[in-house]
Amino acid sequence: MDRREFGKATVDVLHADTLFEGLPERFQGWMSHGDRVEKLPEGFRVLAQSGNLVAAAADESRKIWGLQFHPEVVHTHHGKEILENFLKACGCRREWTMSSFIESTVSAIAAQIGSERAICGLSGGVDSTVAALLVHKAIGDRLTCVFVDNGLLRKNEFATVLANFLERLHLKVIGVDASRRFLVRLQDVEDPEHKRKIIGEEFIRVFEEEARKLGNPPYLVQGTLYPDVIESTSVRGPSAVIKSHHNVGGLPSDMKLQLVEPLRELFKDEVRRVGEQLGVEPSFVYRHPFPGPGLAVRILGAVTDERLAILREADAIVQQEIEHAELIRELWQAFAVLLPIRSVGVMGDDRTYENVAALRIVTSLDAMTADWAKLPYDVLQKISTRIVNEVRGINRVVYDITSKPPGTIEWE
Ligand code: XMP
Repeated sequence: MDRREFGKATVDVLHADTLFEGLPERFQGWMSHGDRVEKLPEGFRVLAQSGNLVAAAADESRKIWGLQFHPEVVHTHHGKEILENFLKACGCRREWTMSSFIESTVSAIAAQIGSERAICGLSGGVDSTVAALLVHKAIGDRLTCVFVDNGLLRKNEFATVLANFLERLHLKVIGVDASRRFLVRLQDVEDPEHKRKIIGEEFIRVFEEEARKLGNPPYLVQGTLYPDVIESTSVRGPSAVIKSHHNVGGLPSDMKLQLVEPLRELFKDEVRRVGEQLGVEPSFVYRHPFPGPGLAVRILGAVTDERLAILREADAIVQQEIEHAELIRELWQAFAVLLPIRSVGVMGDDRTYENVAALRIVTSLDAMTADWAKLPYDVLQKISTRIVNEVRGINRVVYDITSKPPGTIEWE
């Protein structure tokens, strides 16, 4: 008989002992296993079942519990309570608070960096910003941040984010306009991986140049989160090579930078809370993620000034309407993609032959999986009408209804 279980299952509690205290007798659990309990070890008893399979067992006298389902995923209802009950049974106390985290992290950073200097590449996103703020609290202006305009940012992004860093967050930031060099190197490049590689390399060059101008500070601040730590092999320790994917994209090991990663133990929602405590305004803290290669991976085919300008306008409309409908926090990302095809349309008495934009609007918890958002029709209609009316060069808007997997969130 097949004993594999994957997905939703019903958990029936037989003994509401310590672990299941305060929970309903029946709740939804998330299973993902190909094995089963055939015989319990001595001293154990079954606490819960799913169908006729063991879902939980324990030897309470020795304080050992075992679960067959995943209490840590959202699809398991009451998972958090189960984990809380477990911690209580372990004798743990609730001492970890955001402010104690900030306090202990700031003193750990001060101890690590001592009287040295540090450098940080800001992406404009939440993670690098919060990491920089923590380090700034510890060592003040011995931290210099570098914010690079790669020419692939959203409309007005560079100027507004830079002003926010300088005026509101009081970070010491060097804004580098490197847009021309990125765009020159991207000329006629169509292959997505090639684009990413070029952008990653160019970023390193710009960053190295800035670091050199600053006399090569020995410490590099990164906004690495706990999921990145699990995903990449950087568990080797702080001196190991920087993760090669995403933001900083593999800085060369001969820079001999020592890493400062104050967010290594946090998840995204916790980083947002730290950010709020540090005075970052909610509109910034709840920004959607934006990929390092920026709009280049949302312009299918070659990246040109003209296509960037078209996409920037369409994207700005998507952002405005999502904000207007107060949907930012419900969505993981919402953006437009410029397709490498043209279609026929009619506007007034004229026939048009223009670009097609696809809307990619998804819900997700961690970007590992995602679903296309069931956006209200009136919001979709508003976005579509505005794009076609206001953005010269786009005469058709389509909606991407692919989940991840099998689709990815970005189109390239
Ligand atoms: P995909 O397209 O793989 O994206 O489903 C998952 C999440 O990661 C973001 N993403 C990137 N972020 N540099 C980044 O900093 C990148 O090269 C990159 N590629 C994808 C994407 O926006 C989504 O949130």
